[in-house]
Amino acid sequence: METKVMGVVGSGQMGSGIAQLAAVVGIEVWLVDTDSSALNSATKSISNSIQRFVSRAQLSQEAGKDAMNRLKCTQDLEELRDADVIVEAIVESEDVKKKLFLELDRIAKVSAILASNTSSISITRLASATSRPRQVIGMHFFNPPPIMKLVEIVRGADTSNDTFTKVKALAERFGKSVVCSQDFPGFIVNRILMPMINEAFYALYTGVATKEDIDTGMKLGLNQKMGPLELADFIGLDVCLSIMKVLHSGLGDPKYSPCPLLVQYVDAGRLGRKRGIGVHSYGKEPEPVKSLARL
Ligand code: NAI
Repeated sequence: METKVMGVVGSGQMGSGIAQLAAVVGIEVWLVDTDSSALNSATKSISNSIQRFVSRAQLSQEAGKDAMNRLKCTQDLEELRDADVIVEAIVESEDVKKKLFLELDRIAKVSAILASNTSSISITRLASATSRPRQVIGMHFFNPPPIMKLVEIVRGADTSNDTFTKVKALAERFGKSVVCSQDFPGFIVNRILMPMINEAFYALYTGVATKEDIDTGMKLGLNQKMGPLELADFIGLDVCLSIMKVLHSGLGDPKYSPCPLLVQYVDAGRLGRKRGIGVHSYGKEPEPVKSLARL
């Protein structure tokens, strides 16, 4: 049956974008966050994003208005009792997500599918916190969800074919292309991307080249939109580090050990664009963080 009501838990940069996609295609959406100011910012950012689609004539004024009317914000998880599908997009912590899945399992109707937008955490382990592992799945959107064309669907050890088919149909209704990954650390995209970013940090750390030449080399040499260090700043260095740690512990191979320079930048609070400073500087002057290149 087609999804009519959807819940999205976590109204940050990913959750707000996912809620917007659902509201635009005609789904009633409950957007839940523990933080009321996050809900206010999400409503503003969804409204602004919809206006941009309207101004580019990609959405009519009326359709944009209808989408906003389908969106309801709440701090009360119990509102999700009628949702057909619930997508979790809260903080990337296994313990916190497991607690939420336990709660969602209690609240959601028996037929509801519980999906996670996690970048790296095991879907099988999240599913094990519930009494419905066949209806738990990874639905991994890319940033920003209204723009990026891909959804990576991750099948846990017990995810049923029926759950997979319904979630694939939902992603396609959002206009996305789907790839399917089995449940191994990093799935497809981050399994390949994060070691590349980590290697770029090693190249900087060991003085192979400047940050500008590493990014320009990868951009122009491989026809990529962003260099790996610039991309790491966009994603967030803390997010990159946490995914490298998941790859390292989950796959047990030293080749995934996070570069000390990446660790040091995160320790220094240089988290990337969101902090105004990461490998590159976005308005603020960088505090000197030593790499071998400068020793
Ligand atoms: P964010 O930090 O922007 O938003 C997280 C939101 O969740 C916050 O508003 C916070 O108040 C809320 N929250 C935390 N715990 C909660 C709880 N127990 N119940 C309800 N709300 C809660 O994070 P972001 O970047 O949106 O990431 C969310 C998830 O999406 C993470 O699992 C992340 O790994 C994943 N992801 C992130 C991408 C990115 O580029 N940032 C890309 C793809 C996936």
